[in-house]
Amino acid sequence: MASLRTLTLLALAAGFSCSRASDCSYFGLLNHLNMDTANTALGILRPVKNWTTTTLVQLDMILNGILDVNEKFQTVTNHIWINMFWINEFLTWNSSEFCGMNMLTIPSSMLWIPDIIIYEDASDCSDSKQDPLVTVDPSGLVRMRTRLMLTISCKFNLYRFPFDTQTCNITFLSLNYDDSVLKLGSVTNASILTEVSEHVMQTEGEWKLTNIESITSTATQKSQLIYRVSLQRKPFLYIINLILPLLFLLFLDVASFFLCESSSAKVNFKVTILLSIFVLLLILKDILPSTEEALPVMAIYCVSVFTLVWINVLETMLMSFLNGLSCCVGEEANASEVFKVKTQQEADNPKESAGDAGAANPEASNPPLGPLDGGGLLKRILGKEKAALKPPGRQEEDAGRTGCRWLRLVKIFDNVFFVLYFTTVVISQVFMFMLWNVPDLLG
Ligand SMILES: *[C@@H]1O[C@H](CO)[C@@H](O)[C@H](O)[C@H]1NC(C)=O
Repeated sequence: MASLRTLTLLALAAGFSCSRASDCSYFGLLNHLNMDTANTALGILRPVKNWTTTTLVQLDMILNGILDVNEKFQTVTNHIWINMFWINEFLTWNSSEFCGMNMLTIPSSMLWIPDIIIYEDASDCSDSKQDPLVTVDPSGLVRMRTRLMLTISCKFNLYRFPFDTQTCNITFLSLNYDDSVLKLGSVTNASILTEVSEHVMQTEGEWKLTNIESITSTATQKSQLIYRVSLQRKPFLYIINLILPLLFLLFLDVASFFLCESSSAKVNFKVTILLSIFVLLLILKDILPSTEEALPVMAIYCVSVFTLVWINVLETMLMSFLNGLSCCVGEEANASEVFKVKTQQEADNPKESAGDAGAANPEASNPPLGPLDGGGLLKRILGKEKAALKPPGRQEEDAGRTGCRWLRLVKIFDNVFFVLYFTTVVISQVFMFMLWNVPDLLG
């Protein structure tokens, strides 16, 4: 009888335990985890049974978009997703006891969350969308997801702008726990993270993600997880907006040597080119920060082109001055020569030379391509040849020769300058493009 009662009791106990084991409700699990009533200890203390145990917090960061890169303030704004995992030793259960329940979703406010910050975060109120829920699995692994619009400060190297690649660090570390109690690590291989980021990247703008590298370090007594993000600039806009216009303006400047305009028109033209380059310089000033250590090649390039054009303007002014001087030196000679040319021309074709005011120009020995048509010009040259063949008077001959020689000297100087200028332009362009391609040429 007694044994029967014992048996019944046992059976009852077995039945009770059986019904407990097949509890399929979340409430049962919460009850088992001791969380059905407010359990403040779980929310405030690092979830380890022995305090000497180190909590390993594992992180995955996915770059979802590069929203803005500010060269002037040296900040990068991007859109990231963070997945964070750690073990909570108090939240374990046997899933077979709870109808195979292998995941529990609870509010994150109920649990201890590691105080991970981003060291480079420069946003005044980081626009973080922390998931209000965390998931827990039977082994106690807690998983939390965060979406973040993150502005980080990043030291740019703009030497090769706009062909530059910038590398920015995103450092995760715990604000309060040091190395011995909290360690950070990454879950997924960095190359896979790069691939995933490239795949999900929605907005890149002018930047292309080239690589994400993950490094763990314990440099400052605190465990750090550093993601080194490399971004490459797409230079096309800058090429068509800055570099090509500069190059074309420089070509125009070189080509202006072949203009047979009066010197004031030439100066006007060249000063206009100078002003255009100045506009480009202003654009550049808005983009680049003021640094002294690694001056961007782009700035050097702009300034060198500006200087070249400036020198060219100066030379045109000098030529104008020298031509004026020749006018004084060979004034009488020129006058007689012009007179002779004119009379000769009149003899040849009175109608042509009647309307020709250009012959009174002091540059008569160097006739400008005025509104004259080809035939008129030919006749003038022929007339001049004839005048030159004709033996002039002795005194006039001396003065005329001085004026002619002076003009020839000026012309030679102009040509020599042109050759030098052209060579300088070509060499400087080649040098600049080499600077762009060989990063260590200037250190
Ligand atoms: C706590 O951990 C330390 C080091 O691992 C160990 O020496 C100690 O025995 C542990 N204490 C308990 C109560 O388990």
